[in-house]
Amino acid sequence: MATGITRDQTTGASGESYDTVAKILHWLIAAMVVLQFVLANLAEGAEDAGSKFQQLVLLANHKSVGITILSLALIRLGWRFMRPPPAPLPMPVWQSRTASISHWSMYALIVLIPLSGWMFSSAAAVSVSWFNFFQLPDLVAANEGLEELFKETHEILANLLGVLALIHLGAAMKHTFVNRDGAIRRMSSTLTLALFVIVIVLGVLGLTRVGRASETPMDRLLDAKTSAAGLPQWRIDYTKSYIRFIAEQAGATFESEWKDWRAALYFDAAHLDVSSFDVTISTSSVDTLDQERDETLMEREWFDGGNFPQILYQAASFSPRPGGEFSASGEIQIKNVTAPVELMFSVRQDGDQRTLQGNATLDRIALGVGTGDWEDTTWVGQFVEVKVHVEASIEGQDQD
Ligand code: HEM
Ligand code: HEM
Repeated sequence: MATGITRDQTTGASGESYDTVAKILHWLIAAMVVLQFVLANLAEGAEDAGSKFQQLVLLANHKSVGITILSLALIRLGWRFMRPPPAPLPMPVWQSRTASISHWSMYALIVLIPLSGWMFSSAAAVSVSWFNFFQLPDLVAANEGLEELFKETHEILANLLGVLALIHLGAAMKHTFVNRDGAIRRMSSTLTLALFVIVIVLGVLGLTRVGRASETPMDRLLDAKTSAAGLPQWRIDYTKSYIRFIAEQAGATFESEWKDWRAALYFDAAHLDVSSFDVTISTSSVDTLDQERDETLMEREWFDGGNFPQILYQAASFSPRPGGEFSASGEIQIKNVTAPVELMFSVRQDGDQRTLQGNATLDRIALGVGTGDWEDTTWVGQFVEVKVHVEASIEGQDQD
């Protein structure tokens, strides 16, 4: 069927080719969309492997790139209205209609997908930051129902974009190699194609590696296989290990867990003098099974998670106790208060497997957790029971 469309019928002021700004925005966004799929998949892989830290970093980068796409998409749409694109290439009407529908769907998706991600993060009570430079406002209040809804929406829309982009790629290839109508040339220049490749390569190299630049002192500790004294580091299975605490609120106890923590443990019953524990807990990873209580705990009077993102625990003084148990005299640092803490624990050895069970009592008043009105221990108990369970293996040990 004749289309009635010819190359001469250009509507835009930009002639046959897209203008440079349109080209740059197209290829920059296309590269970032590719990156988004890579980052989301790696984050999922990190979650499956039980590496919460890697998952956190990959998802944080995914969110920052996604917010960048949202901003660029809005600029691109604004630019398109100001500088209309060239007339479509000559092709059957059904094809140009399909192309137009698919292009507009892709425009809609590169706005709606980041928005649904942002809504999803807000509903999950995880505020979004742009590359740690500034924090974005929450779009909705924390709500588990909405979280589930936006999560589903985000996934479905992202998959839809994936399918459309593949069809779009196929169409571009057909135009270029079968119709030979210069479709790719209209949308690109050497510079913009180079930009596309560079953004993907640099993005994959820089954003997917939970790299050295963002390495914390804890990461460096975890990297070590043995301590200075030659003790092997425990390789912890975080999926089977936990740090929980039991506290009392209005006369009733509740159990909570810190979901995200890392520990460099060196322990050998025969070498207590050179054994050591180093633990870093992500303050905001507290889960009391109650969203409101979790949020309260992040406030200034409690753990002040915004200003003090980590809780630190260290112990380097160990002594044996009756019944084969041990006691570790260490220190815990919450906010800017450091207090001594005594951890009682037992260690079961089974080949190269180690299981540590321990408990400690913390005085929340001495630690400045729950200040002001909250110091009234009638409503929130003064003592908090911490329960630790660690399952680990050790490699390359030189047992003697
Ligand atoms: C155009 C931009 C974006 C694209 C193409 C995109 C794509 C994806 C994809 C493909 C997934 C994996 C979904 C699955 O499990 O099947 C995902 C997951 C996720 N995205 Fe995005 N995303 C974008 C922007 C954002 C933004 C702006 C945010 C937040 C501010 C965000 C937050 C998330 C989160 C938290 C997950 C993990 C979901 C889970 O826990 O399963 N995304 N995204
Ligand atoms: C990576 C492979 C890609 C190739 C080879 C490619 C190629 C092209 C080409 C040749 C055009 C111009 C069509 C014409 O002559 O009218 C175009 C337009 C377009 N592309 Fe892509 N593209 C790719 C990825 C993407 C992605 C991932 C998106 C989604 C964000 C996207 C969104 C668009 C949109 C919305 C237009 C229409 C521009 C307009 O007329 O306003 N492209 N693409």
